[in-house]
Amino acid sequence: MNQSELLRLAAERGIRYREALPQARVTPSASPDSLRAALGGPAPELPSDPDVVLTRLADVVEAGGLMGMGSGRFFGFVIGGAVPAALGADWLASAWDQNAGLFAPTPGVAIVEEIAGRWAIEMLGLPAHASFAFVTGGQMANTTALAAARNHVLAQVGWDVEADGLTGAPAIRLVVGEEVHVTVPRGARLLGLGTRTMERVAVDANGAMLPDALDQVLAAKPKQPTIVCCQTGNVNTGAIDPVGVLAAVAHRHGAWLHVDGAIGLWAAAGRPSRLPGLELADSWSTDAHKWLNVPYDCGLTICAHPVAHRAAMTVTASYLVQAAPGTDRDPVDWNPEFSRRARSLPVYAALASLGRSGVADIVDRCCAHARRFADRLSAVPGIVILNDVVLNQVLVRFLAPSGVDVDHDARTRGVIAAVQRDGTCWLGGSTWRGQAVMRISVSSAATTTDDVDASVDAILRAAGAG
Ligand SMILES: Cc1ncc(COP(=O)(O)O)c(C=O)c1O
Repeated sequence: MNQSELLRLAAERGIRYREALPQARVTPSASPDSLRAALGGPAPELPSDPDVVLTRLADVVEAGGLMGMGSGRFFGFVIGGAVPAALGADWLASAWDQNAGLFAPTPGVAIVEEIAGRWAIEMLGLPAHASFAFVTGGQMANTTALAAARNHVLAQVGWDVEADGLTGAPAIRLVVGEEVHVTVPRGARLLGLGTRTMERVAVDANGAMLPDALDQVLAAKPKQPTIVCCQTGNVNTGAIDPVGVLAAVAHRHGAWLHVDGAIGLWAAAGRPSRLPGLELADSWSTDAHKWLNVPYDCGLTICAHPVAHRAAMTVTASYLVQAAPGTDRDPVDWNPEFSRRARSLPVYAALASLGRSGVADIVDRCCAHARRFADRLSAVPGIVILNDVVLNQVLVRFLAPSGVDVDHDARTRGVIAAVQRDGTCWLGGSTWRGQAVMRISVSSAATTTDDVDASVDAILRAAGAG
């Protein structure tokens, strides 16, 4: 088989897989051992026909080895689907196989990245002068922003962290909400900030940071270089921190405010009133592979302090073909990676094909679906919604019948396991305020009202209430 035939075969397999998704069972059914046995064995010594390799790979993995993450009935973690234009552009990114670190070797890709970054900033209502970087996801978006913040707050006290490192540097205060996502402390570990001294600010009942509590924490140790991390979209409840108010508090104390918007930043694209004062922060991170519905992996750092952002990331080498400062944009100046995939292409295609109204429509539909889950489930006796459903997240608790040894945690976990076995939809569990919950995240453009209803029916069957 020649290369063209082989690529058609791969494309056909991908198309067939996606066409079957709306009807397919969501949950994987193959055993790990059967997958290992079918694909593994000793490292191959001799070549094999590429079409045989691809066909076997697809046959085995597709036969029960995949989770239907692109299905409209997948509600686990926070996982978006892939809008068609973004998926197509992602395929092109592989076919073109460009190293997208520099402008000069691949001007078309670099310009698409420039435009995609500017469009995202405009749609989110963030400052026009902000810099940006397309990274692998929310983890690296937070880490890149924290690196820029580290540079800036130390520069303000006369310390050049890029040259002198952290040994002997003034201590940085890292202040986060009680509900901070685990990727922020992980970023702090990677950047040498550590987690032991991280200070936590109280949150409200739904998990949103309390401005007065932040004020008190910051006032306790004035005049230290300080980074505050808030979030738009709590991973459990979807709660949105009051960014504008927090920015005013943080800035009054001379602190940098970072917004972890991995989940919820795109909510600003349709209705900025959902995230008032968002533009007042110093840096933002978000995922394109969540609510923008771009294929994995793709996140975005946006920074209101381009000098600090660039200083934290830039790199030079004599063999590179780098643009003079102030001319073309070399992604390597803004990204933690050196060589990198052209992951802005799918973002460009998503934003161009959806427009601001299309992005807003995805957000609005997901929020309405989350509301529908909450309304239908809470109408059934013995089922309680634990969060205020302000976004796309729903936390459901199943109460055990009264009697001795009532264990609502066990009952809730039992229902989750039964839903997962059923396979109509997939969702996971979590713990909220010490209580086991079923966690529903509606993040896919593919989800329809019928998907929600079929999934509610499956949940009620699993709970013995259907
Ligand atoms: C609030 C928050 N921040 C960061 C992340 C990490 O994003 P990623 O998985 O894309 O690295 C997540 C993931 O769910 C999240 O919910």
